[in-house]
Amino acid sequence: MKHLLSSVVCKNNEEKQKALVELQNICSQCRACDLCKTRSSIVFSDGRADAPIMLIGDAPGPDEDAAGKPFVGRAGQLLNTFLAEAGLDRDKDFYICNTIKCKPPQNRVPTNEEKRACQAYLFGQISIVKPKIILLCGTTVLQSFIDDDLKITEIRGKWLNIFDDIEVMAISHPSYLLRQHSTEPNSPRWLMKKDLEKVKAMLDEL
Ligand code: URA
Repeated sequence: MKHLLSSVVCKNNEEKQKALVELQNICSQCRACDLCKTRSSIVFSDGRADAPIMLIGDAPGPDEDAAGKPFVGRAGQLLNTFLAEAGLDRDKDFYICNTIKCKPPQNRVPTNEEKRACQAYLFGQISIVKPKIILLCGTTVLQSFIDDDLKITEIRGKWLNIFDDIEVMAISHPSYLLRQHSTEPNSPRWLMKKDLEKVKAMLDEL
């Protein structure tokens, strides 16, 4: 399924930063679903407004809720290690966010209703940042963009045609990889390494 982006045109990093701050301010007042009642803060994003790569996770956990930043807990630390091993730089190359901006209770998967309530923020972020590459992290995120029956194991590591002019790839979620320890060929950790090497090669080409 192809998605259309809004025609927001930010000419430079300054304009992108300004547009993102405005969107974040609106999001911080959001009461569109019940998750607003239990959040400490919204978890909007981390990274550069003009980053070439946008990484999208599913939802903030307790560490992210406390810090107000995505991927700062154990999964985030593992993600950082994988990125660095592939020659990617979290601070320089990435804008990181989630499909929903508030922590679900007990770390449960976001519901379709919650994802719908947050969709305008996510698509706003994509339209403003206009990255060259988007990485969809894990099955829940993949299903938000493609369809509800897809499994990450069927599709990870392939370049997907979801947005015009943006290369999109689904990768495994680092929370899943925390439970997978093998680094043998074709193990989930080994596949993640190979997928991120492809991302680095694409980044160097673009
Ligand atoms: N998992 C996610 O999907 N996002 C985060 O920000 C943290 C953990």
